[in-house]
Amino acid sequence: MKKLKHYYSHHHNSSEQQRKCIFPVITMISLFSLFFLLLFALTLTPLSATRFFPFPISTATTPPPPYPFVESKLFPLPIPPPSPLPPRLAYLISGSSADASAILRTLSALYHPRNRYVLHLDRDSSPEDRRLLTHQVDRHLTFQKFRNVRVVTKANLVTYRGPTMVANTLHAAAIALTESDDWDWFINLSASDYPLVTQDDLLHAFSHLPRDLNFIDHTSDIGWKDHQRARPIIIDPGLYMTKKQDVFWITQRRSRPTAFKLFTGSAWMVLSRSFIDYCIWGWDNLPRTVLMYYTNFISSPEGYFHTVVCNAQEFKNTTVNSDLHFIAWDNPPRQHPHYLSLDDMKRMVDSNAPFARKFHGDDPVLDKIDAELLSRGPGMVVPGGWCIGSRLNGSDPCSVVGNTTVLRPGPGSKRLETLIKSLLSDENFRPKQCV
Ligand SMILES: *[C@@H]1O[C@H](CO)[C@@H](O)[C@H](O)[C@H]1NC(C)=O
Ligand SMILES: *[C@@H]1O[C@H](CO)[C@@H](O)[C@H](O)[C@H]1NC(C)=O
Ligand SMILES: *[C@@H]1O[C@H](CO)[C@@H](O)[C@H](O)[C@H]1NC(C)=O
Ligand SMILES: *[C@@H]1O[C@H](CO)[C@@H](O)[C@H](O)[C@H]1NC(C)=O
Repeated sequence: MKKLKHYYSHHHNSSEQQRKCIFPVITMISLFSLFFLLLFALTLTPLSATRFFPFPISTATTPPPPYPFVESKLFPLPIPPPSPLPPRLAYLISGSSADASAILRTLSALYHPRNRYVLHLDRDSSPEDRRLLTHQVDRHLTFQKFRNVRVVTKANLVTYRGPTMVANTLHAAAIALTESDDWDWFINLSASDYPLVTQDDLLHAFSHLPRDLNFIDHTSDIGWKDHQRARPIIIDPGLYMTKKQDVFWITQRRSRPTAFKLFTGSAWMVLSRSFIDYCIWGWDNLPRTVLMYYTNFISSPEGYFHTVVCNAQEFKNTTVNSDLHFIAWDNPPRQHPHYLSLDDMKRMVDSNAPFARKFHGDDPVLDKIDAELLSRGPGMVVPGGWCIGSRLNGSDPCSVVGNTTVLRPGPGSKRLETLIKSLLSDENFRPKQCV
């Protein structure tokens, strides 16, 4: 190739030679065609082609890489060495119209000064709702002290079951990444989620974990979803319209992908910083290609991250098959999980899960969770080791801030450790990865 190139430029550099050498040019053109013909022939016989290419091409002797979109020339950032300090979490809490106060309540229940919070109110929400949310965040003394709560100002139009939901999650992850790069896990929640453990419990339990683990409920056994999810083609008007409209279906159906394997599971997950880096920066084409594929997939939040993580060799071994949520489905299951109430309290606690959904805005069960599991006073954030003020006469202990790396884990931490131990056991961890 190099020789041919020299020959080519040599004969073209001077116009005098060019005129004289019409014949060689013709020979050269034929030489070129010959070369490309040869190249074409060679690519058909990969065994010999390997000699011509610096990168490996699948040959009969070495088995082909299972998924052609995955290259291995670039690697994710190295996992930070185990730190003596507790991990940091980046949360997305999103909601749609009239969810502002529910978002604020979930935020107070999840608050810790070391974490990051991105709050998103759908573009469809009223200006009053948006003002309420921004105003409450701005005048909250604790949030302002640590400046770790951010309300998304360029709000997205999010269509239920549409790809704009995934785009919104990626947007929040990108905001969290650009604001600071010191967090360890990204957690996607909505206004109707609520924690069942304190952040001290969660941070304490997670401080013992390798920071590259991804908690994501998934399976490749897609069953009925093959017919109802993988084959249909949908369009989400939220991608290009200014007003909300439901997704619509195209009459034509498509075949199952052969370039990557489909996985499906819960839309709730806890993803590692390195996996978020991988999805946002996109140095491999896999996250981008799969994203474009999922643009026309109904309920893409239940498949996008699952399919990416399990088709990326460098991440499939980091999956823990759980969404860390308590979610109760009716029997037979309907489109939405049932709303949790006081009757579900015992089952929620016994599940050892750190999060539950879904709740009505001001259901009494949330007050019970605040009182019994989180020790959260009305209108206050959940107290932790960093709160050193007085609790007397109903005052907020977190109005006086101590050392924010001091954790005071309680019984919630024990419950969560029980769950994590079981998820990482020999029967559960490796055997349930990407199968
Ligand atoms: C993220 O959170 C929202 C909650 O608003 C949810 O609907 C969505 O499905 C979640 N998951 C993903 C992968 O985007
Ligand atoms: C993932 O685990 C499998 C089986 O334990 C192992 O063969 C493979 O090398 C691991 N891959 C990576 C990238 O660590
Ligand atoms: C609590 O209230 C009582 C009476 O209302 C008062 O005597 C006491 O000083 C208060 N304590 C604090 C710490 O504010
Ligand atoms: C905060 O607490 C940590 C862990 O207990 C300790 O190592 C650190 O020195 C403390 N920092 C301050 C400023 O007291």
